[in-house]
Amino acid sequence: MAEASLVVIGAGVAGLTTALLLSRHPRYRIYVVAKHMPGDYDIEYASPWAGANYMPVSNRGTRAAEWDKNTWAPLDNLARHHPEAGVHFQECQIHNRSKDVGSATAEWFSELLSPSPWFKDVVPDFRNLDKQSLPEGIDSATSFTSVCINTALYLPWLASQCLKNGVVFKRGTFKHISEAARFTNRSQKVDLIVNCTGLGAAKLGGVEDAAVVPARGQIVVVRNDAGKMIDISGTDDGDDEACYVMTRAAGGGTVLGGSYQKGNWESQVDPNLAIRIMKRAVAVCPALTDGQGIEKLDVVRHGVGLRPVREGGARVEKERIDGVWVVHNYGHGGAGYQSSYGCAEEAVKLVQEALGGYLAKL
Ligand SMILES: Cc1cc2nc3c(=O)[nH]c(=O)nc-3n(C[C@H](O)[C@H](O)[C@H](O)COP(=O)(O)OP(=O)(O)OC[C@H]3O[C@@H](n4cnc5c(N)ncnc54)[C@H](O)[C@@H]3O)c2cc1C
Ligand SMILES: *[C@@H]1O[C@H](CO)[C@@H](O)[C@H](O)[C@H]1NC(C)=O
Ligand SMILES: *[C@@H]1O[C@H](CO)[C@@H](O)[C@H](O)[C@H]1NC(C)=O
Ligand SMILES: *[C@@H]1O[C@H](CO)[C@@H](O)[C@H](O)[C@H]1NC(C)=O
Repeated sequence: MAEASLVVIGAGVAGLTTALLLSRHPRYRIYVVAKHMPGDYDIEYASPWAGANYMPVSNRGTRAAEWDKNTWAPLDNLARHHPEAGVHFQECQIHNRSKDVGSATAEWFSELLSPSPWFKDVVPDFRNLDKQSLPEGIDSATSFTSVCINTALYLPWLASQCLKNGVVFKRGTFKHISEAARFTNRSQKVDLIVNCTGLGAAKLGGVEDAAVVPARGQIVVVRNDAGKMIDISGTDDGDDEACYVMTRAAGGGTVLGGSYQKGNWESQVDPNLAIRIMKRAVAVCPALTDGQGIEKLDVVRHGVGLRPVREGGARVEKERIDGVWVVHNYGHGGAGYQSSYGCAEEAVKLVQEALGGYLAKL
């Protein structure tokens, strides 16, 4: 049976999910080539630093909302039936302060902060919380059942599922797409390249995309249990800081965030910001330290990740570059997990369109 050779560049959640869905098609021979692989922690590799949860911030009626919507069912299925993936259900509360109206975080979260967001019928148990039950300073809140992904388990799980389906993994750094054949079985030409380079797309030669910028996210991972996820519309510490907590599946610890610092490439932890993150976390979730303040937080690590934000939204598109088909799937910003299956399914469709005629002729 005739086969097509595909090279997926990138082994973050976008590359791995796309490779996994492609690997279910028997006529594709798939290589994943990446500078960073699951297990690595690096400022250029966003995926390990994510919480990660499903908290849509996409606006109603957009392609991004469609991707998020199509990702819920696969994540729900993993949480229900595949404990080895490291995804579990958790209650999620969104706290809203009227004074945050117009701030950067509130703008970013506008759909999430709505009393009636588009996803209210997608996730289970969506409801508006009773005003009386809210902590001081919170004017309104919603709650729903979401998932929290332990990225330290989930990324290797995705890679393992790919390996089981015959995907070949190679370390490699691309300077230009013309190099693709170097990373494959050299006796075969490369029929298609899938571009899942995240923030790497801002620097890679060939078609540098100036619309891709980092939104720096600093986090603290602690051993303390929050038991639920909480996210607030803003903080009193500046427009580009955020406050959220979530407890990862399977003993993964609790992630305390955060920040959303656009255009900031700083890879080192800011110790002052770390203190503010911890203070805000114990204030919003006193259960973390039984009301005893940040001294009782048991820190696993401090970290910084860069969300690959693309002005105008993620790019899921096909393009012919120097005679080779390229399917792009990058620029997911703060939503790479919650849009992962929706985007990867669309990327697979584009691959099929691009190769359909070619495979038919063989
Ligand atoms: C603090 C923080 C919290 C977050 N929380 C959430 C959350 O709760 N939910 C959610 O959905 N999202 C969350 N995100 C966003 C999410 O992490 C990203 O959207 C997602 O990880 C992007 O995945 P990616 O595969 O596109 O990029 P990456 O994970 O950055 O992977 C890029 C890959 O491309 C490779 N690459 C790049 N350039 C080249 C090259 N030239 N040659 C070879 N390889 C190359 C890299 O080595 C890497 O393997 C969060 C992000 C941060 C930083
Ligand atoms: C959050 O607050 C804003 C501004 O007051 C308001 O428009 C919005 O409806 C609120 N959300 C909820 C869930 O009540
Ligand atoms: C390389 O490609 C050739 C031709 O398709 C094939 O016979 C061979 O098994 C391949 N080798 C590997 C390691 O994939
Ligand atoms: C991936 O897309 C980015 C942005 O357009 C570009 O810089 C890079 O060259 C692309 N890589 C490949 C292999 O097409």
